[in-house]
Amino acid sequence: MQRQEARKPLVVGNWKMNGTLGSNEPLLAALRAGLDAALLAGVDVAVLPPYPYLPQVSAWLGETGVSWGAQDVAGHADGAYTGEVSAAMLRDLGCRWVTVGHSERRALLGETSEQVAVKADRTLQAGLLPIACVGETLADREQGLTESVIAAQIAPLARLASVGAPGQLVIAYEPVWAIGTGRTASPEQAQAVHAFIRGRLSAAGFDAASLRILYGGSVKAASAPALFAMPDIDGGLIGGASLIADEFIAICRSAASA
Ligand code: 13P
Repeated sequence: MQRQEARKPLVVGNWKMNGTLGSNEPLLAALRAGLDAALLAGVDVAVLPPYPYLPQVSAWLGETGVSWGAQDVAGHADGAYTGEVSAAMLRDLGCRWVTVGHSERRALLGETSEQVAVKADRTLQAGLLPIACVGETLADREQGLTESVIAAQIAPLARLASVGAPGQLVIAYEPVWAIGTGRTASPEQAQAVHAFIRGRLSAAGFDAASLRILYGGSVKAASAPALFAMPDIDGGLIGGASLIADEFIAICRSAASA
């Protein structure tokens, strides 16, 4: 109850590089119908489509109370950065959220935790809300390095404590070994890391009571309730299941009733 008052649950659908104008339509129609005001009173819901579909998402979800955002943002304000998209452009498209530092970008594109913090800073400066992703690999976990890896990933974010107002930074804990693998962290494993993250950021000056920490990694309607029952898990960052309307809406319901 205390958590509910301080931190409204948040469920975010990361569509990754999926969808077409045509295939998005039935998904968006089902979200518009299923994510009604009664449900949204208990949970904040957002979707993160690929950039080209942001106008389509805003046209479908604009009046619903569901918010939207982007999967990445440039670390620069504007200028000669071919192919990049700035935080101000995302604000123009009505975005509220930006994920930064997704493990796929860290692994495939070599993004560093310093660059991730710069992107989070840009996001806040533009008046949008960053969702900073952290998570260890299976090798890290097996070597007992989970906490040190997470500590190093969140350290550059600590300076944001002086930039954003309380509650403006969201962290997503996504163990790399659980993403797209069907292998979810157990609620206890996830809770332990969430508590660690909250402790670290609280020590860095963040308002621990309003800091939302999402879990991501193979979350499904069936696994969501036990995860969201944990005291430091404030919602989810959902990949594959966010492309299936019934699954995603069921996950949102779980968060609302956690
Ligand atoms: P899956 O839910 O498909 O495992 O993806 C998780 C994720 O990476 C969300 O950002």
